[in-house]
Amino acid sequence: MSQPLDTVLAYHERTKHHFQRYAAGPGGLDWATQPDAFRTFAGSPRVALPLLGEASLPTHYADLYRPGAIAPHAFTLANIAALLELALGLSAWKEYGATRWALRCNPSSGNLHPTEAYVVAHDLDGIADGVHHYLSRDHVLEQRCDLHADLPAETFLLGLSSIHWREAWKYGERAYRYCQHDAGHAIAATRYAAAALGWQAHVLGDWSDADIAALLGLDRDADFHDAEREHPDVMMVIARTATQLLAPQAVAAQTWFGQANRLSPTHAHDWPVIEEVAAACAKPATHAPAWQAPPLPDPLPLVSEARASGIIRQRRSAQEFDGMTSISADTLFRMLDLTLPRAAMPPWDAIDWAPRIHLALFVHRVDGLTPGLYLFLRNADIESKMRAELSSEFEWVRAEACPAHLLLYRVAEADARNAAKALSCHQDIAADGAFSLGMLAEYESSLAHGAWIYRQLFWEAGILGHVLYLEAEAAGVRGTGIGCFFDDGVHEVLGIKGRWLQSLYHFTIGGALTDTRLQTLAAYAHLKRD
Ligand SMILES: Cc1cc2nc3c(=O)[nH]c(=O)nc-3n(C[C@H](O)[C@H](O)[C@H](O)COP(=O)(O)O)c2cc1C
Repeated sequence: MSQPLDTVLAYHERTKHHFQRYAAGPGGLDWATQPDAFRTFAGSPRVALPLLGEASLPTHYADLYRPGAIAPHAFTLANIAALLELALGLSAWKEYGATRWALRCNPSSGNLHPTEAYVVAHDLDGIADGVHHYLSRDHVLEQRCDLHADLPAETFLLGLSSIHWREAWKYGERAYRYCQHDAGHAIAATRYAAAALGWQAHVLGDWSDADIAALLGLDRDADFHDAEREHPDVMMVIARTATQLLAPQAVAAQTWFGQANRLSPTHAHDWPVIEEVAAACAKPATHAPAWQAPPLPDPLPLVSEARASGIIRQRRSAQEFDGMTSISADTLFRMLDLTLPRAAMPPWDAIDWAPRIHLALFVHRVDGLTPGLYLFLRNADIESKMRAELSSEFEWVRAEACPAHLLLYRVAEADARNAAKALSCHQDIAADGAFSLGMLAEYESSLAHGAWIYRQLFWEAGILGHVLYLEAEAAGVRGTGIGCFFDDGVHEVLGIKGRWLQSLYHFTIGGALTDTRLQTLAAYAHLKRD
């Protein structure tokens, strides 16, 4: 085994939660060192972006999945601002007593938001040529440098990075995983926001981390001093019409502006394994052929007049479910259908690798489906291995009335509520919804192609979670990502031996209860901007 792969495999093992022992963490929250949720670059020129405000784009949510249904909007400052707001901007503030915290269109484990975003602009309406950091709190771009990036007309680059410390402050060693989930959610959130404008968004999969860091200035020691560093995640191209894949180019920045803020006054704990695994996962430049999604029938229909921007901004994580609400089997089938990549359809057209994640569903309250444990395969190639290697007690009965192209099998009839709850770190949300699920990654075979693929597996899981978050809202229910689960406990229930499959992320959907003690405030009421 190569050394980076050893490091990644060891990191994954040591950051598993076990029934008798959680992965190493700080053991309590040190509020005095809570990281600032917002990165700023003091001294950098700012561009205030127009706000969507109460307005919404005319795009219907259901049209996001109808190729050609949304005419590309003009490439104006207002629309570029709308993309940033709907992808990564604030969606509301919550208040309880003297405490107030912002929610965003993209979710984040513990609402800690490790993901930072940058725009690389060339010849854009109202935005100077150069690299700009997006500060969601103020809905402004902070110009980091002026450079001439020779980009095609009506495109820009959007880079994402992670500040691991934000998650590590609360979650310790497991935090690196959560940063990757969040990056996946941010990729999907960006793709959906672009789609709402009729635009394209695509991850430039060939780029190396070093190229991303150099272009965004993440490698500039002088600008970070004692500030927590950012790790490059992905570079995406946003294009008004056809996506153009861009090779990394030698672009010389002229002048850099701004100093990164320090997020916590001190760090009570150091988590060296996070930096070790991050180094082991560094992505080199690659030249893999793009994977093409196989033809599939059109997605199952959704009867909804909801606007895309409305669904995106109302997305929330349920903190509690009512333990009663059921959904129809058709609703579940549609959700599963949208987890399948199709050409020219968000969010999966943002990436170009084959699906490597499958779902183990704990079905509790789905009308028309017998409660129990189900498997949903997103890639038929895995079926024979699954049948051969998972628990020999599994029945493999095709789900009742399920469309032929959805490989959904009931493997055990059961009241799975207690098991789902116990496996998800005893969280009630896994039992009280209509269903919950674990995302099973084809782990060893994927990592054999490069240790850095570890991150892609989590990104894929995050994208999947984002599909489910939005679909839950559109169906009148609510979802919640679940990062806390007992890894090997899940594997045991499924009969997974060895490391060929690993559960990376869980999710739950159901009828949400709202916490009426919390006050909700408008996202940008504090800005007083037109
Ligand atoms: C990767 C990830 C893991 C999460 N894990 C949990 C979890 O284990 N339990 C939980 O109640 N919420 C979990 N959440 C929900 C977050 O707490 C929630 O996204 C965050 O508080 C922001 O709220 P919002 O989603 O309503 O914007 C998770 C979210 C993400 C993205």
